[in-house]
Amino acid sequence: MQADLALQIDPATLAPRDLGFLMTGLIVPRPIAWVSTLDEAGIPNLAPHSYFNAVSSAPPVLMFSSTHSSPHRPNGRKDTLVNIERTREFVVNLVSADLLGPMNETSAEFPPGIDEFDVVGIEKAPSSVVRPPSVARSPVTLECRLERIVQVGDASVVFGEVVWFRLDRQIWGDGRVKAEALQLMCRLGGALYATLGPITHVPRPSGAGYR
Ligand SMILES: Cc1cc2nc3c(=O)[nH]c(=O)nc-3n(C[C@H](O)[C@H](O)[C@H](O)COP(=O)(O)O)c2cc1C
Repeated sequence: MQADLALQIDPATLAPRDLGFLMTGLIVPRPIAWVSTLDEAGIPNLAPHSYFNAVSSAPPVLMFSSTHSSPHRPNGRKDTLVNIERTREFVVNLVSADLLGPMNETSAEFPPGIDEFDVVGIEKAPSSVVRPPSVARSPVTLECRLERIVQVGDASVVFGEVVWFRLDRQIWGDGRVKAEALQLMCRLGGALYATLGPITHVPRPSGAGYR
């Protein structure tokens, strides 16, 4: 791309909403963390987060970012974030194609104390080592304990150590994840989603380490 023909954007010239469209439209595809938590009264909460990724393997740590834009709380902090600050536990449920509609429905701005599992009609499954329930039909659930929360820009970045993995059996074989069997939805900008395209195998150069 020739620099003089490219569109140049100074982020200082864009409104926060337009910056959001730019970031989420360009940084794609993003995986979706469908995060289940419990509030202090034990009421479950479920909400999707696509500012989400892996951070560390040993110990296994992931992150997602909660923007401070809740209309229901004076400081904008969303229920997921508040619940994790108070209970220090959550589950990341990964989203297969059949869960796309229900996942989207749980992103509505429900007030605190509303159980999105019940409102949307999503079956719960007990988790193995943390208290928040898992999404029964999710092909992969990652049970997490809070590692730390870091404030960055208009968001709180939540780091969680995965203390338990549950995978559908057909996803796992010979000590590896079967990529073709794990058909997760990806988030693009706005209301756009994608499935994985063709999967290519490119061996690393000899001498390269695992990562
Ligand atoms: C696919 C998808 C991805 C989303 N990703 C994020 C995200 O990364 N961070 C965030 O704060 N909100 C994200 N949202 C919006 C939240 O899901 C929404 O604000 C939700 O109501 C928060 O619920 P809570 O207050 O129960 O935590 C996303 C919504 C959708 C549909």
